[in-house]
Amino acid sequence: MTTRSVAELDLPTIDDPGLSDVERQALVASLAGDHWIVRNAIGYSVLQYSDVVAVLRDKRWHSATSKIPEMMGITDPDFLNNRRVSILSAEGDVHTRLRRLVAKSFSPRSADRLRPFMREVVDDLVDDVASTGRADIAVDICEPYPIPIICELLGAPRGDWQLFSRWAEDVLRIFNGNVLDELDIIKQAQGQLDEYSRGLIADRRNDPRDDLITDLIAAEEAGDRLSTDELVMMIDAVIVGGTDTTRNQLGCAVGLLTGYPDQWKLLTDPDLAPRAVEEAMRYFGAVRGTVRFASEDIEYRDVLFPAGTVVMTSMAMANRDSSVFDDPGTFDITREPSGQPQLTFGSGIHYCLGAALARAELQEALPILARRMPDIAVDGAIEWKPSTTAIFGPARLPVTFTPT
Ligand code: HEM
Repeated sequence: MTTRSVAELDLPTIDDPGLSDVERQALVASLAGDHWIVRNAIGYSVLQYSDVVAVLRDKRWHSATSKIPEMMGITDPDFLNNRRVSILSAEGDVHTRLRRLVAKSFSPRSADRLRPFMREVVDDLVDDVASTGRADIAVDICEPYPIPIICELLGAPRGDWQLFSRWAEDVLRIFNGNVLDELDIIKQAQGQLDEYSRGLIADRRNDPRDDLITDLIAAEEAGDRLSTDELVMMIDAVIVGGTDTTRNQLGCAVGLLTGYPDQWKLLTDPDLAPRAVEEAMRYFGAVRGTVRFASEDIEYRDVLFPAGTVVMTSMAMANRDSSVFDDPGTFDITREPSGQPQLTFGSGIHYCLGAALARAELQEALPILARRMPDIAVDGAIEWKPSTTAIFGPARLPVTFTPT
């Protein structure tokens, strides 16, 4: 077979501006069975499991995080000059070194140490609403839940949670569709977050404790250490990567489970939690895709992707691929593992660094919510964030339940 450039392929397109969010998603879902690749507004989307994994594991495809300002048309010199390498945008040796230095601090064992604290946090949040039989799960539970945990992990004062929450949300606006309108907010949040992180590092240098910042300061491999700028970057990555993601994934899971009362009941058994979390993330992940660009000319499946080509890997579609998951359109928290993981944490070198922590947070929260909010039902309608939001979930999730 001869290799053809991707631009020459006759591909379906999903970027018709006349389509609503829901229509576009339905179109993508209808195409995913027959097409491994389609055209989108920024380049191409790959939709099937094996291709999503292949792209994410191929080191010639680089994270497009560093290209976002260019792709979004940002020309503000202040913003462009202040950009720096983050773990999410780093590639090659730079990335390998960062991962090696920080990996131990993000092990499942480190996450497990926080499980009793996670249960305490969820219980406290439910205490505030349990007797009323009414709650907005998105606002009362999901939004605050990850913050004390990240504070505990880092060793930051718990009283600062509202600052964290706002900075995380504002910095993540860079991934949304209307970044040019929000650049000032992003810049301000990034500046404040950096300053705050520098303060935490200075404190821990004088007063080491049993927390992540102290671990990261101490992290050393063959005489190598993180510089202060790299420490700031890592703390920022934890605050930004570890809050909005978990809260939205919990919201997606609960929103989904309100439609499955029998499974909500089953979930009172904490032994089912690990499977339930994987299934909720497979069926309805808060991160539905990520973006890569070809760092050089890449040939894949007899198609040439010239250097610079932008490809979105659709984890959401890959998670519904029938060649990997039996009956993928059925949501079932008792589902036997398929042997291949759901892809909402990504794959390859940028695979989510906080996956063990996020899994623990979700596994601890869901059974407590199921036990303390029996007979949960949506009260009115769930208000979802716009589908252009990079990390998707409910903005409002009003529910009723039997008071406990
Ligand atoms: C359910 C919650 C979460 C989801 C769905 C999620 C999803 C992801 C995904 C898809 C990636 C890869 C992005 C890419 O390949 O372009 C990623 C990377 C990352 N995540 Fe998470 N994440 C979650 C929770 C967390 C938490 C709790 C933390 C921190 C404690 C965290 C920190 C990070 C970091 C630092 C990276 C960059 C890793 C690298 O580039 O090497 N995430 N996450």
